[in-house]
Amino acid sequence: MNKPERHIQAFIGHFLDLYKIASFNFINPHSYTKFRQIKSIKEKTRSTVFIETGTYRGVTTKRCSSLFEKIYTVELDENLALEAAAYLADEKHVKVIQGDALEALPKILEDDSVNNVLIFLDGHFSGGETACSNLPEPAIEELKIISKYSKKVKGIVIDDFRLFGTEHGFPTKSELIKAAESYFDGYEIIVHLDQLIIAKSK
Ligand SMILES: C[S@@+](CC[C@H](N)C(=O)[O-])C[C@H]1O[C@@H](n2cnc3c(N)ncnc32)[C@H](O)[C@@H]1O
Repeated sequence: MNKPERHIQAFIGHFLDLYKIASFNFINPHSYTKFRQIKSIKEKTRSTVFIETGTYRGVTTKRCSSLFEKIYTVELDENLALEAAAYLADEKHVKVIQGDALEALPKILEDDSVNNVLIFLDGHFSGGETACSNLPEPAIEELKIISKYSKKVKGIVIDDFRLFGTEHGFPTKSELIKAAESYFDGYEIIVHLDQLIIAKSK
């Protein structure tokens, strides 16, 4: 799909979401709606660095590129990582890392220059050509790792909340919320538009 077509499709999906929200018939947001939620958490938390697990083709990464000073995005599948790196090549402040998010996250967060971070956890098996590690949805293990660096972390957005407890190998919703509450005491925790949001309240 070329660039203008991609934009038009994204806006149609977003307006469809707004209609579905207004008619109380909303389940799974389209990508531009998800992006707007990330943007609002970025503004609320004033974060400046974005870490995304699960790059896929780099669409959300590209949209976020104008919002953040530095972006790290991690994709397990080699071909998708190469494709996304080519798509994002003009964005010099965006680093595409090929590998498992569970290994990449501590390396990124240990870097002294990485502070004031918003993390988007979206690295899970999604069928088709997407990768599947031994954990189809590693969000709980990722939260455990991230909690060790909580001083640096302003917010976390976990995507596809509806799939927890329904997709094969995904932890349940209650397990995810329990992990969020135990690792991020003092943070605001809400579920909104199919995303679990953990944000530092001011
Ligand atoms: C839902 S897609 C990501 C969509 C993308 N964030 C976006 O907004 O366009 C999930 C991606 O996570 C990748 N993935 C699966 N397990 C992973 C892991 N352990 N570490 C990093 N990426 C992973 C899959 O290959 C897939 O491309």
